[in-house]
Amino acid sequence: MTAPILRRLSDLRAKTAEWRRNGETIGLVPTMGALHAGHLSLAKTARETCDRVIVTIFVNPKQFNKPEDLENYPRTEHEDAAKLAPLGVDLIYCPDPDQIYPDGYATNVSVGGSITAVMEGPFRPGHFDGVATVVAKLFLQTSADKAFFGQKDYQQLMVVTRMARDLDIPIEVVGCETVREASGLAMSSRNLLLPKEALTKAAALNAAMRDAAAKATAGEPWAPLEAAARQALAEAGFTDVEYFDLRCAETLEALATLSRPARLLAAAWMDGVRLIDNIEVMELKY
Ligand code: PAF
Repeated sequence: MTAPILRRLSDLRAKTAEWRRNGETIGLVPTMGALHAGHLSLAKTARETCDRVIVTIFVNPKQFNKPEDLENYPRTEHEDAAKLAPLGVDLIYCPDPDQIYPDGYATNVSVGGSITAVMEGPFRPGHFDGVATVVAKLFLQTSADKAFFGQKDYQQLMVVTRMARDLDIPIEVVGCETVREASGLAMSSRNLLLPKEALTKAAALNAAMRDAAAKATAGEPWAPLEAAARQALAEAGFTDVEYFDLRCAETLEALATLSRPARLLAAAWMDGVRLIDNIEVMELKY
């Protein structure tokens, strides 16, 4: 059965107050819709660990730094509700825009420090402020106990974790494994914007990442590995590699060698679509 769709904050609060009175825990899966298997796995994990599950669908204008990107973002609410139906989600919250940004709205949540100063931070000015603002609102509006995010957006996961901690919002942020196509391509709503043949070519991003990570694990220095990966991606049809970085998994500081637990993070353009991905890179322990 399709979960009820609520659009007003007062209706959401009436429901969550009832659940709270019964002592039930609430899990939140924030999304912008165009749901794929990655989102569905978050909803499944929420279902397994919380009494009640809310999936939110809100295409947040504040986090788009290019108007055409906001315009082109896929909107598939009807199909999304159908995909969630078998998962036992309790409600879908698709707030009307004024329920998030009412007239006169003037507050911005901005996470500073090293985690927003690199990669998506400079390449998408204002993006993380938009994410932190809307996620703070969704945390407070739903009063959820746990919120589930994909590790595919690793930097975003760090930002929302920091934000909740800094603002004392009583919620546990849970990072869940990236779900991939058989080709290795990370699932993303943006994949829907890629023509079929570009989808096949796009798998080169994850392949280049796995190759570079394996060589870094074997002790090779990072700079030549990055150069070789950029070359391989250009040959595979990527038009621009914005970053292909080996960074400390905790601080996102750039690493020249694999001196501590690291993450390899990349952003690159294929056929006018910006794709991001990241993988864990572990030091070998002998
Ligand atoms: O990852 C997303 O889909 C969005 O950034 C989020 C977390 C739902 C906030 O709009």
